[in-house]
Amino acid sequence: MKKLFVVSTLALAAGFVQADTVNVICSVQAEWCNMIGTVYGKTTGTKINISMKGSGEALAQLIAEKDNPKTDIWFGGTGDPHLQAAEQGLSLEYKSPSLSQLQVWSQQQAAQSKFRTVGIYSGPLGFGYNTELLAKKKLQPPKVWADLLNPALKGEIQVANPASSGTAYTMVATLVQMMGEEQAFEYMKKLHKNISQYTRSGTGPIKAAARGETTVSISFVHDAPGEKMNGFPVEAITPADGTGAEIGSMSIIKGARNLEAAKKFYEWALTPAAQEMAAAAKQFQVPSNKSAKVDKNVPDFKKIKFINYDYAKYGASAERKRLIAKWEKEVNSLPR
Ligand code: F6P
Repeated sequence: MKKLFVVSTLALAAGFVQADTVNVICSVQAEWCNMIGTVYGKTTGTKINISMKGSGEALAQLIAEKDNPKTDIWFGGTGDPHLQAAEQGLSLEYKSPSLSQLQVWSQQQAAQSKFRTVGIYSGPLGFGYNTELLAKKKLQPPKVWADLLNPALKGEIQVANPASSGTAYTMVATLVQMMGEEQAFEYMKKLHKNISQYTRSGTGPIKAAARGETTVSISFVHDAPGEKMNGFPVEAITPADGTGAEIGSMSIIKGARNLEAAKKFYEWALTPAAQEMAAAAKQFQVPSNKSAKVDKNVPDFKKIKFINYDYAKYGASAERKRLIAKWEKEVNSLPR
């Protein structure tokens, strides 16, 4: 026994026995990415390298490294760019044995991508606002999309840039589906006058609203309770006239150097225990595993007016590229 221990210690020391390595792009907030890294690394002995990237940026990196992938698995981020990655052959077909344990919307996301991605959480788009700044300006919280055009909010709204952020692309796609494309772009041009800046990351605006750097944000509402729990005067609301939801997704990268390790991580990420880590990291999306506990801070989907978001259409490469280019040309280039 002792001899075996010595041999294996020597082998480890000499680098003969290698621990699994998995390279992850993580597109949720840092607290959750870090928790995953620590817990997964400690409980499995895997060396986990995490690189944090917004959904659009992650996709751009995967396209750039297509011929020589350095990433094994992409965890989180909005579903549209995961569907685009699937369509472009950047992700690998993989049917998890746990699929039947997942919510219908998660299984649909998997089926739609021919099993190249899977839903790991979902959450609605809405408005965040700083309660103190609104009160100071004697303004009511915005309730419908048109409320964001109020001239009193000039320079007081932040949203991310849809090229880098899945949150912002979800906004563009939601408005196009709600209003029709022409009207949606007219709306975004007017909204542009009230925007102080388009941030790189989708969670930038809710953080800015929490910290009093902007009055209103367009954000996923599940990102607000964590800021509030940190003591900031911030609330979030979903628009009464309708909104879209993301299906946060996960994909294994085609050509992954550590494929078996990627699959192990994937299976772990679908377990209730792993999914409950989101709430532990103060992030309140709905988990996709039906058995995962739903925290009381998770938005109640039954109370929200959802549009019938066409994930296949707006996750298609050509459509996503076209809408982002159009937004750059017709909205972002306008003076404010
Ligand atoms: O982690 C918070 C979150 O809102 C996720 O729910 C979402 O998938 C992700 O951020 C989107 O980030 P980004 O807009 O930067 O792509």
